[in-house]
Amino acid sequence: MNVNIVKDKAAIAKMAYDIMLDMINSKDEVTLGLATGSSPEGIYELFRKNKPNVSHVTTVNLDEYIGLDAEHDQSYAYFMNKHLFHHLNFKQTFLPNGMNSDFAGECAHYDEILEENTPDLQLLGIGNNGHIAFNEPGMSFELTTNVAELAPATVEANSRYFASHDDVPKTAFSMGIKSIMQAKEILLIASGVGKAEAIKGMLEGPVTNQMPASILQQHPKVTVIIDEDAASLLSKK
Ligand code: PGA
Repeated sequence: MNVNIVKDKAAIAKMAYDIMLDMINSKDEVTLGLATGSSPEGIYELFRKNKPNVSHVTTVNLDEYIGLDAEHDQSYAYFMNKHLFHHLNFKQTFLPNGMNSDFAGECAHYDEILEENTPDLQLLGIGNNGHIAFNEPGMSFELTTNVAELAPATVEANSRYFASHDDVPKTAFSMGIKSIMQAKEILLIASGVGKAEAIKGMLEGPVTNQMPASILQQHPKVTVIIDEDAASLLSKK
């Protein structure tokens, strides 16, 4: 893994944006895997500011809460529309449909979308507990799109966006680890001391589903961009 330790969130966003832009400009048809959360906000801000041509770019998102529709201001569809999709001319954008009550059908449908649109570059954040997308500690590395139960730590972390803890959805459609590992290239970003433990486990720990992001040690092309706080527990820098 290619690990870059930079000064702050702004530096993470700039470096990640440049890598994504290089990919966008590298060929006629590009698929980007995208993520939600606070980590990518700075990257999407740079997209809005610079407005690169993305008319040849298809996007596939990692996950969506079950039970929230695109009008709900905490759904990931709403987040993506607000931060990115309403501002640029992407060719096609895909997220799981959080309102589909046919869970198995939605997972199979999203797997088909991913098969046809395998990301050239997948952007990832990481949870405080080492999750990627909603693949929580203990979940199998063999899963493709699945119905994930949010870990209590994730419900807690995400409750900052909801009126109360009880309002946080407890399940989500999520790309599985197996799906994520299909991406040709992966770009993982993280900042802040809250992520330090997960970053250490991902980079220096054993590959174990107790630390889902550790699987990335087995991916051939991963770039990690973190700030000094997120890097603070690493033994080698
Ligand atoms: P964050 O979430 O970017 O809001 O920290 C990352 C994650 O939980 O995967």
